[in-house]
Amino acid sequence: MDLYGLIGKPVKRSLSPAIHNAVLKDLGGVYASFEIEESDIVLAVNGLRVLAKGFNVTIPYKESIMRLLDRTESDALNIGAVNVVKVCNKKLIGYNTDYMAIESLLKGVKVKTAAIIGAGGAARAAAYALFRLGAREFFVFNRSRQRLLEFINYINGLGASAEALKPDARADVFLNATPMGMYYDDSQLIELFKAGSYDMVVDLAYSPNGTRLSRMASKAVDGLSVLVEQAALSIKIWTGVDVDRKKMKEAAANALS
Ligand SMILES: NC(=O)c1ccc[n+]([C@@H]2O[C@H](COP(=O)([O-])OP(=O)(O)OC[C@H]3O[C@@H](n4cnc5c(N)ncnc54)[C@H](OP(=O)(O)O)[C@@H]3O)[C@@H](O)[C@H]2O)c1
Repeated sequence: MDLYGLIGKPVKRSLSPAIHNAVLKDLGGVYASFEIEESDIVLAVNGLRVLAKGFNVTIPYKESIMRLLDRTESDALNIGAVNVVKVCNKKLIGYNTDYMAIESLLKGVKVKTAAIIGAGGAARAAAYALFRLGAREFFVFNRSRQRLLEFINYINGLGASAEALKPDARADVFLNATPMGMYYDDSQLIELFKAGSYDMVVDLAYSPNGTRLSRMASKAVDGLSVLVEQAALSIKIWTGVDVDRKKMKEAAANALS
């Protein structure tokens, strides 16, 4: 069996083992999650160098992992976060499939303007994907001001304009890159959505019956679809195989219910 896995903290509630194992078994693989303390991260990553074929990285290590890698692919470097590591002859190569998943699920959608809620690693990956899809005007909202300003600078650095979200904004896409609607109250998120005018929603948060935000939108890409797509793209990087998303989505829904 080839070993694949997830490192982060916390990971106990992660859906990734269920999603990956639904398809990796047929490819001779097995996927496990490892909750790693920050003080053990170097040990853990060096262990995976010789034990695993590849692994995912989640909160809080998506940024700090980069200094432990032998190489980081250029899009992941531009985003400043890695969520997939491929192991090749004990060498570690970093990728970002969070942005690839959003880009792939929105393929063919006309995006010139976008509102993004959140300013962390997922928001940067989302902005990067939306920029590649054609967005040049961004409206952004974040709980803490310092991170909001850094995110505006990041988007400007891509070559697009960005300003703080005004309540009556209009945009092609409204994208949630916070845990609001998942583990946290979503009333502020819903208020922001209802005050503006948006053609479609992309919600990175997910919950058993879909989030309130996804359910309210006339057109939505939900967080579970993004999670499954980034996982399928991880497996493509590790094995070269394009796996069945439907099987993975069923496993995710079962694990979530
Ligand atoms: N579906 C998927 O495949 C997928 C992929 C990636 C991420 N995600 C989800 O996206 C979310 C963000 O991930 P990340 O990697 O960007 O995390 P991160 O770097 O820790 O950033 C978290 C962001 O959410 C904001 N936030 C956290 N708690 C909040 C609350 N209670 N109310 C309002 N804002 C809050 C933070 O604001 P401050 O700056 O003020 O702290 C920050 O902007 C997570 O929930 C993650 O599970 C989903």
